[in-house]
Amino acid sequence: MFPLLPLLLIGLAESDLTSGPAIGCLEETGLCVMARASDQERLELRVLDGEGGIAWQQVLPASTDHDLCVHWSVTGLEPSTDYDYLVLDPSGDGEVLAAGSFMTQAPIGSLVPSTIAFASCAREDDGSSRVWTRMRQRAVDALVLLGDTPYIDTTDLTQQRRRYREFANVGSFADLVRNTPVYSTWDDHDFGANDTDGRLEGKENSRQAFLEHRPNPVPDGQQGIQSAFRVGDIEVFLLDARWFAGTEPSMFDDSKPTLLGASQWSWLRTRLAASTATFKVIATGMIFNDAVRPNKTDYWGNYPHERQALFDLVGELGLEGVVLVGGDVHRHRIVRHIDSSDAVGYELVEFISSPVHDQIIAAANAPHPGLVLDIGTGNIYLELSCDTAGDEPVLTSRYVDAAGRELDVRHWPLASMRRPVQGGS
Ligand SMILES: [Fe+2]
Repeated sequence: MFPLLPLLLIGLAESDLTSGPAIGCLEETGLCVMARASDQERLELRVLDGEGGIAWQQVLPASTDHDLCVHWSVTGLEPSTDYDYLVLDPSGDGEVLAAGSFMTQAPIGSLVPSTIAFASCAREDDGSSRVWTRMRQRAVDALVLLGDTPYIDTTDLTQQRRRYREFANVGSFADLVRNTPVYSTWDDHDFGANDTDGRLEGKENSRQAFLEHRPNPVPDGQQGIQSAFRVGDIEVFLLDARWFAGTEPSMFDDSKPTLLGASQWSWLRTRLAASTATFKVIATGMIFNDAVRPNKTDYWGNYPHERQALFDLVGELGLEGVVLVGGDVHRHRIVRHIDSSDAVGYELVEFISSPVHDQIIAAANAPHPGLVLDIGTGNIYLELSCDTAGDEPVLTSRYVDAAGRELDVRHWPLASMRRPVQGGS
């Protein structure tokens, strides 16, 4: 804690913000911050350095056009540096409404160990709340929300906004994302309806509420909510498997519907080709493998032409260190994609993290020839940690429950995610 902050916190009145602050897109010299005003016309963000000096500040208006959500894009900070920040009411005596802290990322190539939490399917209940508390206690470097975070089940804009606010106002979640960067995609229930696809009426409202309430900006002109970010030596490609699904013929088989859509495929190809991270996580809300409960339709296995295209893309680009992460199915699982070897050069491993709440689906314990792990209890999340400082970079997976128990821990050396060297004497 920095010397100036306790004094400033005396005047803290966090109830005066109706959501947030939440931080995201944390980089070496900047980050995104989101907060929702109550009746303030403007909000100020003030970033403080280690001596309590002002490193960055900006006042922005809060507009009902954006549900009073204010987004700051902070720049010009120092890498690997601790900062505190304050959200203030710039009118009157500058009342402090909320405070948080963060550390900027180390310069790329610094080989700093890092841990990312992956979670899906959460409710505003005690069990989910204890999972958020555990993540904070374990000081994960980033949180990825894979969807059904929250459950919304309508595309009505008012209801969408209300559900994001309710989800964000769970105390343990609010505390976590005030101090830990959060990155999000959606699954069917936050997109708007169970098992739905991109033909859903009103999906523009879902996208508007998402972009208002999460510090998860996307470039102007981009459809969908896909994004990518890097933490240490892991880069996460957080795909949108709902917005485009079923809206156009697949570019890989025009007799079948697309899952990701041509524009997202183009984006993914460009981003994957440019990645210099040792480990690359390709993540969607829906799962990639075929082991699902009876009558389930929304999974990559129902779009086999696009799943094969993903394998082909990884192989064509010669990418090492690729793993898959999914959520949605209400079982925590690890599955080896045995059929990916020909295209990729090694077996892609898929980690499934679902649910944060405790509603397990027994029928989702479907057999798969590459099944490595199945956990049939809830209130669990997945940690992926990378350590690239040694001779052999290692990715470690941990399934952690609300009590902090590590239910399954496995080490995945980079050598297991690399095309074997051909030939030799
Ligand atoms: Fe769910």
